[in-house]
Amino acid sequence: MKALVKSAAEVGLWAEDRPLPQIGPEDVLIRVKKTGICGTDIHIWNWDEWAARTVPVGLVTGHEFAGEIVEKGALVQGLEIGQRCSGEGHLIGKLSRQSRAGRFHLDPATRGIGVNEPGAFAEYLRLPAFNVVPLPDAIDDDIGAILDPLGNAVHTALSFDLVGEDVLITGAGPIGIMAAAVARHVGARHVVITDVNPARLELAAQVADVTPVNVAKEDLREVQSRLKMAQGFDIGMEMSGNQQALDQMIDSLVMGGKIAMLGIPPGKSPVDWSRIVFKAITIKGVYGREIFETWYKMIAMLENGLDVRRVITHRFKAADFVQGFEVMRSGLSGKVVLDWT
Ligand SMILES: NC(=O)c1ccc[n+]([C@@H]2O[C@H](COP(=O)([O-])OP(=O)(O)OC[C@H]3O[C@@H](n4cnc5c(N)ncnc54)[C@H](O)[C@@H]3O)[C@@H](O)[C@H]2O)c1
Repeated sequence: MKALVKSAAEVGLWAEDRPLPQIGPEDVLIRVKKTGICGTDIHIWNWDEWAARTVPVGLVTGHEFAGEIVEKGALVQGLEIGQRCSGEGHLIGKLSRQSRAGRFHLDPATRGIGVNEPGAFAEYLRLPAFNVVPLPDAIDDDIGAILDPLGNAVHTALSFDLVGEDVLITGAGPIGIMAAAVARHVGARHVVITDVNPARLELAAQVADVTPVNVAKEDLREVQSRLKMAQGFDIGMEMSGNQQALDQMIDSLVMGGKIAMLGIPPGKSPVDWSRIVFKAITIKGVYGREIFETWYKMIAMLENGLDVRRVITHRFKAADFVQGFEVMRSGLSGKVVLDWT
């Protein structure tokens, strides 16, 4: 089969022929149809310090996918050949206290497909049946291929009650934009999204009914008074990984405000803890998706009118993956989807 492999410890990915994955009794084999390129894949392409430390050379990369089950192991129940699906790319252990309590997303032994284990940038993917998420007809393969990052957005957005609240999202990358759409969908009052990249803010306004703010040019306080916010934002979602964005968020929240933090700062960064203490702010770190509650809620919302389709700005044949990665690396795109059919 064709696959995109991290064949050498240098910048890039390479298309290679690989043997079909062998499945075990509790696995399925999925014929991959569409895949999304994630920021993590860009780190792997760039071979930065994190990637060099984490990803084994020779790995098939990629973890955002939609496809169809073509083979199933002897012990697999409840899934049939031909079932359209996406799936959770975090392969969890079953021994930890968290897993045994059903909090699978907190299992410390988690391994990721396309990061630690063979991934989805390939014609076929082996996945434990446990990780498979069947797709209803209402969700096509393009959307199926971006359920992983949409799940990050949903997990973050549903961390706190948003009904009637004023919400600040810092970072209008694909995940911040999708989180903005989710916040509107579930009934937030005002949703303000910030960035320093005008192309990203333009895309945010196309995808969701939000107030985009370029913090390199506009004063967020003026926006707050224009929107008649008495004190500040009730809820923040940090989706940039940028220190200044987090500082601005802490400044802009009400007393007792809450922050769900998905963005990953590049390293250790200074935090003014006294401001957080005196404003009585709650900060929740968000990792991945709740397995499988986030998937359940996300699919229900998509079936019930949540529309994030326009966040996909580019589509390429898998053979043209170099162009896809170039577009993603430009920082000007939304989601980029590769077609493996
Ligand atoms: N915790 C997790 O499980 C998890 C999973 C996926 C992604 N992430 C992280 O979530 C974040 C969002 O992912 P993405 O793919 O949308 O990222 P992205 O890099 O595409 O988007 C980040 C955006 O933040 C903007 N930004 C930079 N400085 C800013 C500032 N001062 N104020 C406001 N915005 C600013 C950038 O211009 C960019 O558009 C990233 O940090 C990513 O690493 C975390």
